[in-house]
Amino acid sequence: MELLQAFRFAISSETGINFDHVGLNTPFADLGIDPLMAISILEIVQHGTGLEFPASLFRDCNNISEIQETLSYCANIHGSSKIFPAAARHCPCLAKPTNRRILTERIGHSLCSPHRPLVGEIFRECDHLVGQFAAETGVDDFWTNVYPAQRQLVLAYIVEAFARLGCVLDNEPPGTALSSPSGILAKHGRLVNALIDILTDGGLVERRSGDQVVRTSKPVDSTPSALLYERLIQSRPLHAKTHGLLNITGPCLAECLTGTADPIKLLFGRSTSRDLLEEFYTNAPMSVAASKHLSTLFRRVFSEAINGNECVEILEVGAGFGGTTKFVLDMLVDARIAFRYTFTDVSPSFFKAAKNRYASLPNLAGCIEYEVLDIEKTPPEKFLGRFHAVLSTNCIHATNDLTVSSTNVRKLLRDGGFFALVEFTTRLYWLDLVFGLLEGWWLFKDGREHCIVDGSYWKASLEAAGFNNVLWSGTIVDGKLPNPQVIVACTE
Ligand SMILES: C[S@@+](CC[C@H](N)C(=O)[O-])C[C@H]1O[C@@H](n2cnc3c(N)ncnc32)[C@H](O)[C@@H]1O
Repeated sequence: MELLQAFRFAISSETGINFDHVGLNTPFADLGIDPLMAISILEIVQHGTGLEFPASLFRDCNNISEIQETLSYCANIHGSSKIFPAAARHCPCLAKPTNRRILTERIGHSLCSPHRPLVGEIFRECDHLVGQFAAETGVDDFWTNVYPAQRQLVLAYIVEAFARLGCVLDNEPPGTALSSPSGILAKHGRLVNALIDILTDGGLVERRSGDQVVRTSKPVDSTPSALLYERLIQSRPLHAKTHGLLNITGPCLAECLTGTADPIKLLFGRSTSRDLLEEFYTNAPMSVAASKHLSTLFRRVFSEAINGNECVEILEVGAGFGGTTKFVLDMLVDARIAFRYTFTDVSPSFFKAAKNRYASLPNLAGCIEYEVLDIEKTPPEKFLGRFHAVLSTNCIHATNDLTVSSTNVRKLLRDGGFFALVEFTTRLYWLDLVFGLLEGWWLFKDGREHCIVDGSYWKASLEAAGFNNVLWSGTIVDGKLPNPQVIVACTE
């Protein structure tokens, strides 16, 4: 029996719909086909034709025409003029996911199946691991057991800084407009606004109409920040180095705001501070949870979608301290995936350390190139359409316009390639007290209210840049979505 008729016959027999009414383009959902019924239909077709099909066929296709397209596609790859000779036991292209790599390789190294983007599919399949990564890295109780004390510490740093600048919250009468802390540089306007948000969230002030900020009646907790810090690192040693980073700038917040201390010098001028920054991007529990998620995704995508002999081309934007790079490179070597890794940053100052770090990588595994790349500008011609994947951790948020930067990323990708970002999608106040002192945090001119935006904002920006199928994890860990999130945007 001809294959299409076999599907129509099986659908008719399972749904009870007259054979003539089973249209080629009628959506399966309209025919009342649910996943269980799909399995029965496949069984009937398999029995009648002697062919085997993957259980995912009904998931990947919406109607019989799409099934036909998928199967013809497969037949073309076999060089056969007929769709599946009856003698064939099963189609190697469709039988199991690992064989899709042969399929995708032959259709021009696309990372997509004809009807359903493979990357998106794998992303969804990996989602159940997100909770496991959180537990392995110890962030699964962050919101309950770490965040409240961290927020209290941030609040204390702000209260103390404001007091040093003449705004002693304890002395401000409830219901009256807050006196302005004096001497703050104009360039910190957006930061001060964020500090007011934090005081508001702490119940110490209220915003009224016309941008007026009014002191509430809530008493100020007078525990010194130094004591809160000591308690926090003792009670939560796993996060001690992250809080160590906050403790570089927090106690000097007033001086940073007025310009008597230079946050760049504080954070980058000493090796101990630079080490803490590198430590945060590389080993902080929340960074590791995201890196594990990202590298698991890459491992699955490149093991399944790329032909064994093909060299995977990956470019990292804003690779900086290489916190994520380490995880991805280790995974590529471990999975024996041949690669060319283009490590880029707007600043070449990171390259020396990176070169030393990866010097011991086994030569056979692949190669790493180091290139200056400003993602706010059109990429150089040699990069256009070249990469299977572009990744970027905690970088794109620090650019003027998420859509412009993502459009430039899109230009780097070949058809079927994808963009993977790791970005905070929920504000953490301590970030404002560290990175918020740097210009990059407030560069945005694209309508954002804060440099950190949620998944839907990323989705809109990435779609405006020409990406499809923008995904992030929906897994709830300790009451919230993972933070930072791995966000994936596909080209097809
Ligand atoms: C917060 S750091 C993250 C570093 C790195 N991704 C990691 O996880 O270790 C941000 C990086 O983005 C880089 N960066 C900032 N603006 C950039 C731009 N316009 N184009 C490329 N890189 C940029 C910075 O130099 C810095 O290395």
